[in-house]
Amino acid sequence: MDTTSFWSDTTPLQRFKKLDQDYHVDVVIIGAGITGVTAAYLLKKAGCKVALIERGRCGGFDTTNTTAHLTCVTDTRLSALAAKFGNPTAKATWEGGRAAIDQIVKNIHAEKISCDFTWVPGYYHAPLNGDAAKERRSLEAEAKLANDLGFAAEFLDSVPLVNQPGVKFLHQAKFNPLAYVAALLRTIPGNGSHVFEKTEAGKISDRPLSVTVGKHQIHCSYLFLATHTPLMGNTDPVSALLFQSKLFLYTSYAISTRIRPGSAPEASFWDTAEPYHYLRIDRHRDFDEAIFGGEDNKTGQIKNPAQPYRNLEKTLKKILPTFQADHQWSGQVVETPDGLPYMGETAPRQFVATGFGGNGMTFGTLGAMMAVDAFLKRKNPWAELFDVHRKPFHGGTGKYLRENKDYPYYLLRNWLGGARDQSVKSLKRNSGKVLHLQGRKVAAYRDPQGKLSLCSPVCTHLQCIVKWNDTEKTWDCPCHGSRFAATGEVLAGPAEKPLEKIDTKELAK
Ligand code: FES
Repeated sequence: MDTTSFWSDTTPLQRFKKLDQDYHVDVVIIGAGITGVTAAYLLKKAGCKVALIERGRCGGFDTTNTTAHLTCVTDTRLSALAAKFGNPTAKATWEGGRAAIDQIVKNIHAEKISCDFTWVPGYYHAPLNGDAAKERRSLEAEAKLANDLGFAAEFLDSVPLVNQPGVKFLHQAKFNPLAYVAALLRTIPGNGSHVFEKTEAGKISDRPLSVTVGKHQIHCSYLFLATHTPLMGNTDPVSALLFQSKLFLYTSYAISTRIRPGSAPEASFWDTAEPYHYLRIDRHRDFDEAIFGGEDNKTGQIKNPAQPYRNLEKTLKKILPTFQADHQWSGQVVETPDGLPYMGETAPRQFVATGFGGNGMTFGTLGAMMAVDAFLKRKNPWAELFDVHRKPFHGGTGKYLRENKDYPYYLLRNWLGGARDQSVKSLKRNSGKVLHLQGRKVAAYRDPQGKLSLCSPVCTHLQCIVKWNDTEKTWDCPCHGSRFAATGEVLAGPAEKPLEKIDTKELAK
């Protein structure tokens, strides 16, 4: 089984050098997923100088792990958005997705990008194992509301392939996200703009505005924190923590395989289950590909990280009985209390865009467009709607409180627990475990060659104990969803510092 995404297997990405001197630019963008790359591309087109910095590989984390549906259909139903915020806001939210798809199309045409972009219908349907009769009425109402608000939608008694009632939305799309991002990345370096990989942002200073990277500084007049969970940057610590407490990190799982050409319609599908499943069928020259995802759960809290993949395969076999996954991977989605993303300034001259839910490609693109407008002091129609300081949570207070119960629970639970001393000798190759060694907890990992790495298991965000994820080979924090590589480096925030290293000679006896 290939445990990388379908895209990373089929799409080569250009490499960029590490930052090795001081620079002066207009805008520093931290994070080179679709959000950061799109912002860098648009800013350069507008005549600005940018430095795009990425701690790993550009497009190498969340963007490669998406299933890249391009849709204005949000995780929160249109009717739920309308009930919560009113019809104009519900409409504006979906229009944001539509504007993002238009921007992607514009970029593809401008740069002549080959990224398998395809317009497809999107089907929103009753779950495969749910009560279809119960869903029929609400789906009919959903189609009517969408039409009333100006979105082309049609209720269907039976959606193709899944044979469930649902809504057909026209003008949805899909593409290869890595091919798209790789093409935009190629346009950025030059004329005072730069892209750097393996370049981790350190201290961010306010006066003058600058980002420290090792011994070097990048001076700028604006900063865009385009990471999934924004870095603290120049936000004061209390406000930064408060903001982070409004972001809930979930892991979403995907599987894919080739299927018999023509055995399913080329389209996107999402069901109404909670959490929902999502499917896309792609036509290729010699084969069709089915990519199926869902089974979301809070990062770091699942007992058996292999189970979601098994569940996905079992569900998909109901409509594609011969499906046998050859790729499986996971990615993170960031949810918010009220279901709307946060896009705006968290400090003067510091823009963030996060909380995209399952709409990472579209809201990521929209966030980039908004960041560019903010820097260029242009009015943006979504600035108020997605404001990072909006209050209260538009009816999301219950969700906020529920989600934040995790922190005290896991903090206490993981710090307590048995304390009998163990030995690293029992640790198998290519596996990790939190062990008690000489009276302290240790995150121990043995690589496939047998080399041992020991770290403190204390998450550098707010001190919870991380948990080994044997499927992804990562340390995941159950409190706010930070993820660390097997050897302790940060893969995803809110943690900004790696797990503290422990000398193996000292403890590995
Ligand atoms: Fe917050 Fe680990 S304590 S992510």
